[in-house]
Amino acid sequence: MTITRVFHVDPLNPNQKALEHCCEILRSGGIVAFPTETVYGLGALASSGEAVKKVFLAKGRPADNPLIVHIAKLGQLYEVAEGIPEDVLDAVKTLWPGPFTVLLRKGPCVAKEVTAGLLTVAVRMPAHPVALKLVECAGPIAAPSANISGRPSPTTGFHVMVDMFGRVDAIIDAGETLYGVESTIVDTTAKPYRVLRPGALPIEKLVEVLRQEIAVPEQARGLQEYEEALAPGMKYKHYSPETPIVLVESPNPAKAIESLVEKLGRSSEKLALVVSRETAESLKLATAKLITYGSRGNLFEVAKNLFKVLRELDSIGANLAVIEGVEEKGLGLAVMNRLRKAAAKIIKV
Ligand code: TXA
Ligand code: MG
Repeated sequence: MTITRVFHVDPLNPNQKALEHCCEILRSGGIVAFPTETVYGLGALASSGEAVKKVFLAKGRPADNPLIVHIAKLGQLYEVAEGIPEDVLDAVKTLWPGPFTVLLRKGPCVAKEVTAGLLTVAVRMPAHPVALKLVECAGPIAAPSANISGRPSPTTGFHVMVDMFGRVDAIIDAGETLYGVESTIVDTTAKPYRVLRPGALPIEKLVEVLRQEIAVPEQARGLQEYEEALAPGMKYKHYSPETPIVLVESPNPAKAIESLVEKLGRSSEKLALVVSRETAESLKLATAKLITYGSRGNLFEVAKNLFKVLRELDSIGANLAVIEGVEEKGLGLAVMNRLRKAAAKIIKV
């Protein structure tokens, strides 16, 4: 058991002393959970293999699943990566700081543990004052999401506390994160550039900035698992609450869910329904456990609530959850990727 110090800070104007203290922990080889604009990260100095190993241990993360390196200034990109294509450089100048992660050739300053021995490195500049200040002070930080491996990513300091208290040296709690889903990861080591994980930056926006087609493989849609080392994270169980999930993808979700529930013949006390506000209003079912994730027309809201709702499922005592899917455009692609990976079964009607 590690002694965990918890710092509650204002996200926009974080307490300088708290950040200096956490920077000191990082510099001396410790690990610190901190907020970003997407989800909370669990950070260690990217240059320290020993510190990075502690991150893997605290999360229970397989050592062959590499971490994202977080930077605070464009100049640091040249410390952690090599051979950066011109168009990628232009794109990050527009999109950073923000929820966009690029896969590039690894530079020598990054410990091999960070990239699980791969010759590529994933890099992003987070748009959060706390994350930026920490990196400015300590240098590039390697950080996966601050959840126990396989659990939904943490979008509040409380989620981090639940998973990481007693396992990390410090937790910086700055309330709820902005997006609630992780960054969009794009492999730019070969053309056509390819989405490894859809996230908070919509692909449509990326195509506009990069002015070229970007491949979206089935795996990125959450429909197929990656098997090779290409995107090692994708082959592991992800985002899953304990409660088994049935995902319903239908143009008429209320009707599809009603007939599914009838077929299942479950007692309504044990069944949770996770749906949009619109579907909740039109459902003709009585269920004690109805959770709404926001409006179907507001995918920003759905994405923001997604992991919170998945975590909530485990605390309401359901033995099965039926979840309504959303349209696969904009942030909807990220939402559907997470839901498909979390689902034990997908029903398309
Ligand atoms: O928004 C985010 O991206 C958050 C915040 C904390 O920055 N981070 C995050 O990290 O989601 P993590 O570790 O939970 O997810 C990173 C994903 C993993 O699936 C990993 O396999 C993949 O990125 N990845 C990292 N480095 C890679 C590499 N060199 N090649 C292929 N995939 C890589
Ligand atoms: Mg993660």
